[in-house]
Amino acid sequence: MQWADTRVLMTGATGGIGRTTALHLLKQGAAVLMVGRSDPTLERLAGEFRSLGVPASRVKWAAADINRPLDRQRLATEAERLDCNVLLHGAGLPAFGRLQDGAPEDLAAVLQTNLVAPMQLTQALLPRLLTLPAARIVFVGSVLGSIGLPGFSVYGASKFGLHGFAQALRRELADGPVKVQYIGPRSTDTGFNGEAVQAYNRATGTAHDAPQQVAEAIARLIEDGAAERLLGFPERYAARLNGLVPTWLDGAFRRHRQALATPAADLTAART
Ligand SMILES: NC(=O)c1ccc[n+]([C@@H]2O[C@H](COP(=O)([O-])OP(=O)(O)OC[C@H]3O[C@@H](n4cnc5c(N)ncnc54)[C@H](OP(=O)(O)O)[C@@H]3O)[C@@H](O)[C@H]2O)c1
Repeated sequence: MQWADTRVLMTGATGGIGRTTALHLLKQGAAVLMVGRSDPTLERLAGEFRSLGVPASRVKWAAADINRPLDRQRLATEAERLDCNVLLHGAGLPAFGRLQDGAPEDLAAVLQTNLVAPMQLTQALLPRLLTLPAARIVFVGSVLGSIGLPGFSVYGASKFGLHGFAQALRRELADGPVKVQYIGPRSTDTGFNGEAVQAYNRATGTAHDAPQQVAEAIARLIEDGAAERLLGFPERYAARLNGLVPTWLDGAFRRHRQALATPAADLTAART
């Protein structure tokens, strides 16, 4: 797929990874329909990109809450109008902390936004994507969709679910024009990670990437058509080992549990 022929509907475009990725894709020559919940934020972002030299014809936006059926339908209509051939799922909610400290409604909200809504939005756009000569559905998952970490049981469940959905759908659609791709970033420096996660990362020696690294990896994934890619060493290899023999790694998370016992861990981040 040539960048000049690439028209992306991207959820999460107002976020730390999303805005960097949107700009990076625009700079490659793609057109991007940016999705977030706030119209003024999206309008400001589009203005920012135009002031950086991006042609107005290639940067569009639509305010929508992916959890609302009518909004998803509106996005499907808009994607058809703009002839989008890439659906890039970047929206997500964080959740961190011990399971017993979290609220049930936060648990449901995280699964709805990170897993159910991307499935539903995919379902809404898929009939149209299947009529195109070539199309992509790209899921921004997480390394936590391949390896379960203490403190991330709810978030990890949402990303394991997304990973499984992407894998099954990829195989289901393998004979047609729609390629399904999955990328799993490791911890990334955005507002997604509150003080509690940053403290946990410091205590456990967890490495983190800049949003630009993730943006470039997403563009590379779209360019080379790989089915899935996890970012970061040693995360990529730990995830592989975890997939082969999960119990081998069970003894490796003492420091993580200790870090969790400190008071800052806060599942309520999911409410933001
Ligand atoms: N940061 C990390 O450490 C990290 C690591 C691995 C994977 N990821 C994944 O990468 C993706 C982006 O993360 P980020 O760090 O960029 O997060 P972020 O800065 O918090 O941005 C989250 C994005 O999701 C959007 N969003 C949330 N709920 C929505 C809803 N109901 N409807 C529509 N849009 C909604 C937000 O839009 P609004 O403008 O409407 O708020 C925002 O654009 C997420 O899927 C996350 O799970 C992040």
